[in-house]
Amino acid sequence: MISSQSRHSLRTVHPFRNCAGALPLAHCDRSSLARLFRVFGTQQPICALDGGTLVAVTGVAPAGTCQPTAIQIQRLRSPPNIIAIGPGAAARVGKWLAAWGERDPDQSHSHLGPLAVDAHLQGRGIGSKIMDEYCLRLDARAQAGYLETDKQENVHFYGRHGYAAIAQADVIGPNWFMICQPQRSA
Ligand SMILES: CC(C)(COP(=O)(O)OP(=O)(O)OC[C@H]1O[C@@H](n2cnc3c(N)ncnc32)[C@H](O)[C@@H]1OP(=O)(O)O)[C@@H](O)C(=O)NCCC(=O)NCCS
Repeated sequence: MISSQSRHSLRTVHPFRNCAGALPLAHCDRSSLARLFRVFGTQQPICALDGGTLVAVTGVAPAGTCQPTAIQIQRLRSPPNIIAIGPGAAARVGKWLAAWGERDPDQSHSHLGPLAVDAHLQGRGIGSKIMDEYCLRLDARAQAGYLETDKQENVHFYGRHGYAAIAQADVIGPNWFMICQPQRSA
């Protein structure tokens, strides 16, 4: 695990808007992530940087902004986006978003996702460092956090950061729906 003295720094910058080209996420599908962040413009990403290189990123949708608007769905379904990510992947994303939207909690929450660490750096504590920072921000605002995941190993990972699974459903394979209650008041 990396420590807080690690060379990886965390910043709230938009990885693909203001710094386009400056922050290569070498082992991740950078263009798909960039498209996602472009459509969901309210995202407030937290990035882990190694010097000037992006090594991990998560999207954070502030309370009240996590469900796609009609315009965002239209943009997601635009021919350039479908061609870029492929019709099969576009159909899967559409199914996920619809199923996730149906289960979105009524409780006010910040919505986390996607979260990705550069493939060759996974398992070294970078994802945990991002989650620690994110959970501190939730607690400071007395804000609940919510997310979906489709991997059992991630349920364990998020559980270590205070999230509990509140539901499970089959959406192109198993999906877990997880919530984290704030630990202290603002
Ligand atoms: C899931 C992910 C963000 C975790 O970040 P990380 O920096 O690899 O994780 P950390 O080193 O901080 O913590 C390790 C824990 O993460 C979990 N984990 C999940 N996927 C992992 C992977 N590919 N490699 C290593 N750990 C992984 C394990 O629970 C592990 O705990 P363990 O060491 O007791 O087995 C990262 O592995 C990743 O980007 N995976 C691929 C994309 C993904 O699944 N994103 C989440 C979508 S909901």
